[in-house]
Amino acid sequence: MPSQYDEIGDAYTRAADQLLFRRIVERHTLLEVLGPVEGLSVLDVACGDGYYTRLFWQAGAARVVGVDVSEQMIRAARARDEGQEPGIEYRVHDAAAMPVLGSFDRITAVYLLNYAGTREQMVRMGEGMCANLAPGGRLVAVLPNDGFDPAGPSPVKYGVAVRPPEDRKDGSAMGVELLIGPSVAIDFFYWSRSAYEQALAEAGFQDVCWHPLECAPEPEPDAAFWRDYLANPHAIAMSCRRPLG
Ligand SMILES: C[S@@+](CC[C@H](N)C(=O)[O-])C[C@H]1O[C@@H](n2cnc3c(N)ncnc32)[C@H](O)[C@@H]1O
Repeated sequence: MPSQYDEIGDAYTRAADQLLFRRIVERHTLLEVLGPVEGLSVLDVACGDGYYTRLFWQAGAARVVGVDVSEQMIRAARARDEGQEPGIEYRVHDAAAMPVLGSFDRITAVYLLNYAGTREQMVRMGEGMCANLAPGGRLVAVLPNDGFDPAGPSPVKYGVAVRPPEDRKDGSAMGVELLIGPSVAIDFFYWSRSAYEQALAEAGFQDVCWHPLECAPEPEPDAAFWRDYLANPHAIAMSCRRPLG
C-alpha cells in the first residue's frame, strides 16, 4: 500500500532526528507513561525508522517488533540497525489489517491513529493492536492534541508548524510541517479525544487516560525555553489497557 512516507521518509527522518522537542518533551513523556520495558515484549506500531523501537531494545526489552505501512520507513529502520546487531524484527503491515504477531506486554503507537481517514479504519487499527496485546497489557500512544489553539503560543520556535483543520470536525484534513532543513509537510486527520476514546472502546480497550506532555528534568536549553510549548502543545500522550478477562 503506497504511503506518503515512501516519498517523505528521508526528509522526515532528517528533520525528526534534529527536533529537540522529540528528545526533551515527546520521548521523555512517552517513556514516563510507558514505564520500564526491561524483560517485556514490545510492539511498536507505525515505528517509522525505528526511533522508539531501538530505544525499547536498548532498554532491555526481551522481544521488540516494529511495524509500519511504509516499505521505505522499514528499509530505513533496518539500515539504521545495520552493524549494531539488535534483534529487532521489522514488518511491513497496514495497522488496520495487522495480523497477530504475538501476545505483547506493551504496544506503542507514536502518531498512528491520526492517520486513520475514517472511524472504521481507526477501530480496525485498535482491534489489531488489542489482538496483539496480552490480557492486561497496555497501549501507549502519542497523538495530535485536539485542544491545540491555533491562536495560542506558536510551536514554530520549536520547529513545528501546525496546519489546523478548517473546522474541528472529526475526520477533517490537517497536518504539520517540520521546519528543520528543507521543511517537510505531513498530512493526517483531526480527531477529537472523544472520537479516539469511542474507537478504542469499540476495539476492546478500557481505562483510556490522557497524559499532557512534560519536559525532561533539567531540559535543554532550559525550562523557560519550553514554557510556550507546554502552554499550547501540539501533541498529547494517551494510554489504555486490554482488559484482563
Ligand atoms: C510521524 S511518523 C512516526 C514514526 C515513529 N512512530 C516515530 O515517532 O518516529 C508516522 C508513521 O506512521 C506510519 N503509518 C501511517 N499510517 C499507517 C498505517 N495505516 N499502518 C502502519 N503505519 C502507518 C507512517 O508510515 C510513518 O512511518
